[in-house]
Amino acid sequence: MMQDMQRKYNYIPREGMEALSEYLGCPLSSLYSMATFYKALSLTPKGEHIIKLCDGTACHIRGSMNLRDGIRRHLGIGDGETTPDGLFSLEQVNCLGSCAMAPVMVVDGTYYGKMTMEKLPQILDSYRGAGDTAADPEENG
Ligand code: FES
Repeated sequence: MMQDMQRKYNYIPREGMEALSEYLGCPLSSLYSMATFYKALSLTPKGEHIIKLCDGTACHIRGSMNLRDGIRRHLGIGDGETTPDGLFSLEQVNCLGSCAMAPVMVVDGTYYGKMTMEKLPQILDSYRGAGDTAADPEENG
């Protein structure tokens, strides 16, 4: 149920936690301990588009930190931050299981492999008001 709320709102609102507690007859403190344990769940609002930048070993060696700096320059956000317009959130994550495509960035579940600083602005900009027409990962590596 918390995952459903996370998917719908990109975070779990306090009202949702309270309703869930009442519905399940489960103490709010138990739900909070679960929600704060899993990184996939958030109690603070996130951006409309979630950027996951891998910093596992393979991606780190192939320049993921340069990409992190590029995202900071392009969007003005670092790990765990959200743009003031609420459009993007950045999450630095460990291995995404696609090391052969390192460095890897995932936006809203779409994988962009063999990422470069040159590809970064076009991919990010494609999510601005693009709806479902974001950059094609096949064209971008
Ligand atoms: S280290 Fe990045 S996908 Fe495995």
